[in-house]
Amino acid sequence: MNAEETLAQIAAEVAVCQKCALHRSRKKAVPGEGPANAEIMFIGEGPGFYENEQGRPFVGAAGNLLNELLAKAGLKREEVWIGNVVKCRPPGNRDPLPEELAACDEYLERQIVALNPKIIITLGRYSMNKFMPGAKISAVHGQMRRVGARFVIAMYHPAAALHQPANLPILAQDFALLPKLLEQARAALKHVAAVPAEEPPAEQPKQLSLF
Ligand code: URA
Ligand code: SF4
Repeated sequence: MNAEETLAQIAAEVAVCQKCALHRSRKKAVPGEGPANAEIMFIGEGPGFYENEQGRPFVGAAGNLLNELLAKAGLKREEVWIGNVVKCRPPGNRDPLPEELAACDEYLERQIVALNPKIIITLGRYSMNKFMPGAKISAVHGQMRRVGARFVIAMYHPAAALHQPANLPILAQDFALLPKLLEQARAALKHVAAVPAEEPPAEQPKQLSLF
């Protein structure tokens, strides 16, 4: 299966998933969306009211803000991948419970492997905690960190910026850095992309030391 097929397969599983209690109250599961070759993957928290109605991520007020921030950063929504740590709406938009996060994590893990993005942007503390356990968003937001084969940038959640307008300029600033950070990530990961998975690592051929 190629990346697109794998992502579609995961979405099909999510649509009928009953691995945690959130399946009982959901209307539509929200697997996430975007092109299989996206270089940037946004990971939010979980579907809200409108996402649950439509089965699509970030289509409510937070989504409108996300669209604006993307546009200001010169990115098209259609060229990034957007998803969440839990795929079904927590009732009343409550925080996801540890057991729900744990049950749903398998899907996100598989989505990350299939997409293999250069940059993961976590929106809010639940997705940040997955990659930077114990980090404080006020201390780490906007900083790009290498995590394995990719980079992770923690950002404030757009909904939090709507509730706390003081966070809005911070979030806008972090988004404005994205084009530059994407260039850096591309450059740093170039050699990774250039080596096909089957080939031995570039350090191997030592015989050239004849010179
Ligand atoms: N907030 C999220 O975290 N995710 C969505 O999809 C919508 C709002
Ligand atoms: Fe399954 Fe995730 Fe929905 Fe829980 S939140 S039912 S684990 S898709």
